[in-house]
Amino acid sequence: MNTRLLSPCESTYKDASEILKNGGLVAFPTETVYGLGANALDRQAVLSIFAAKGRPADNPLIVHIHDRNQLDPLCDVPERAFPLMEAFWPGPLTILCVRKPAVPAEVTAGLPTVAIRMPSHPVARAMLQACNLPVAAPSANSSGRPSPTTAAHVLEDMDGKIPLIIDGGMCDVGLESTVLDLCHGEPVILRPGGITREMISSVLKCDVAVAGSVLRPLREDETALSPGMRYRHYAPKAVVTLVSGKEDRVVPMMRKLCLEQEALGKKSCVLCFSEHVTSLSDCRPHDIGSVTAPSETAHRLFDILRSLDDEGFEMVFSEVIPPEGIGLAVMNRLGRAASFRCVQAD
Ligand code: TXA
Ligand code: MG
Repeated sequence: MNTRLLSPCESTYKDASEILKNGGLVAFPTETVYGLGANALDRQAVLSIFAAKGRPADNPLIVHIHDRNQLDPLCDVPERAFPLMEAFWPGPLTILCVRKPAVPAEVTAGLPTVAIRMPSHPVARAMLQACNLPVAAPSANSSGRPSPTTAAHVLEDMDGKIPLIIDGGMCDVGLESTVLDLCHGEPVILRPGGITREMISSVLKCDVAVAGSVLRPLREDETALSPGMRYRHYAPKAVVTLVSGKEDRVVPMMRKLCLEQEALGKKSCVLCFSEHVTSLSDCRPHDIGSVTAPSETAHRLFDILRSLDDEGFEMVFSEVIPPEGIGLAVMNRLGRAASFRCVQAD
């Protein structure tokens, strides 16, 4: 199949809409990452998403809408979701709702809940409006690769597998949406993202829990609340190790570890804050943004993780950021890329 890469314009939206209505797949930009979309009501189309990504069938998809009027045929919305939709939609918040029969079981991997999100990216909104369908879309990467934040990333993984990629430039947030469960008692963040725990808590005026496996590996006896959390994700081929501790200890420790590995013949590098690039100049520094701007780290992270593979690194040492605000989402993705391997520098 020939994969076309088109700029967003009226004729592109028309093409995308035709493809989606005929059961095909379209990759499109959102404010978080690129999505790989299909008509959520078309079972066969949904199955072809799993085939294109090599995604396990038991990992459910998010349904994207552009208008709240689309909700009623798809799901029952939990009461507490309404103030959150008011505050954060359109935007990077996915809310679990109770699935209605119109949603094929393939979308939800047989679960009684369906994940719903209204993206804010103008290109995503225009495409959703043009087709006027609920669009099931996971991130547009091959399963196990970092999510794509540029059209070039999508092309790397999907060339020849899908007919159309809409190129909307680099995604703003850079990490996937927050997935929030309001269907099982207290609110629980299953996957942290652009809408933070603190933001949700301030609207709901109550505590919001974070699933235990967000900052540590899932235990063997533990069921994943969100099936996606079970899989090894965001994993570059390199062995990634996080280095935490006091700033004045971390930088020399990263340098020592990196140069040791290099001396053993392993191609090595560091992921460090802009402020530390100069001190680590002999360690092939990859700049993760300023220590004062965690949203910049979120924005760059997946592109950096992809580049590690392209450049053939074997050992990577990374700084960490406090797991607060968007930092929680960054540390969830970075932690999983490192299989939660961490060295203490003090
Ligand atoms: O920002 C995003 O959310 C992007 C863009 C394209 O919208 N999409 C995305 O989809 O990241 P995906 O499929 O890569 O991740 C969806 C996550 C998975 O971890 C999945 O297990 C979880 O949401 N999920 C979906 N439906 C669920 C459900 N009913 N119950 C629990 N978890 C669910
Ligand atoms: Mg994904």
